[in-house]
Amino acid sequence: MKKQEPVIEIRNMVAKYGEKTILEDINVDILPGEITVILGGSGCGKTTLLKNMLRLYEPASGSVKFWGEEILQMDEHAFHEVLKKTGMLFQNGALLNSISVYENISIPLEMHTKLSSTIIDRMIRIKLSLVGLADAIHMLPSELSGGMKKRAGLARALAMDPYILFCDEPSAGLDPVTSAALDELILSLKEQLKMTIVIVTHELASIHRIADKIIFLDEGTMLFYGSLAEAKSAGIPKIDNFFEVGKF
Ligand SMILES: Nc1ncnc2c1ncn2[C@@H]1O[C@H](COP(=O)(O)OP(=O)(O)O)[C@@H](O)[C@H]1O
Ligand SMILES: [Mg+2]
Repeated sequence: MKKQEPVIEIRNMVAKYGEKTILEDINVDILPGEITVILGGSGCGKTTLLKNMLRLYEPASGSVKFWGEEILQMDEHAFHEVLKKTGMLFQNGALLNSISVYENISIPLEMHTKLSSTIIDRMIRIKLSLVGLADAIHMLPSELSGGMKKRAGLARALAMDPYILFCDEPSAGLDPVTSAALDELILSLKEQLKMTIVIVTHELASIHRIADKIIFLDEGTMLFYGSLAEAKSAGIPKIDNFFEVGKF
């Protein structure tokens, strides 16, 4: 079989805030159609890794390629074209509270495309039915439950039909049933739309349902990168501890 080209290739990436190094030695090849889960304790740099790989924060050094192209030296215009092919679901959903779900999803489409309002309307309705929110179309974010807010955020992240979706703790604060439903939705994006997905989560049930690959962050670097099965059989105590290997 032909070797698959990575969608995202990270080499020797270092992430800092000011003088403080948060992460170093990050080397990752994210393959098309894979779900990669970023794991690690609170404050270890999971969100920082997401933001640096998307250049929302500029990495201090190293290389980040999307589809083989270095994004760190790209000019604004070229980088914008790359960003348009990605969707991001932020930790808090980041919906604008004063406007309806419908309007929240229309924003990226109106900002980044020249599509007619009829087409935009159709696209918004398709995305909302995809996430099971067709009935909430005219509601305000404040009228939605936690799970519905996450799904509305997801509909917005999907508005531009991204090839790559980034999610930061999408199931945080959700009950187990809602969280399982969100995982099903994420799996269907991978299976039906062949989307590549990078997701931060620390919920064991969720990791077992969705993860193809694991990035395990610890003490400012990558303790492990590979498949879930490899992670569990690598004999790394901190990872065994996390997955409770040998406990049952
Ligand atoms: N904007 C920022 N400026 C300075 N330090 C930050 C900033 N954001 C996060 N940090 C620090 O970087 C470390 C990693 O944070 P973060 O990536 O949010 O961790 P995680 O998502 O794994 O909980 C923490 O020590 C945090 O306090
Ligand atoms: Mg975080």
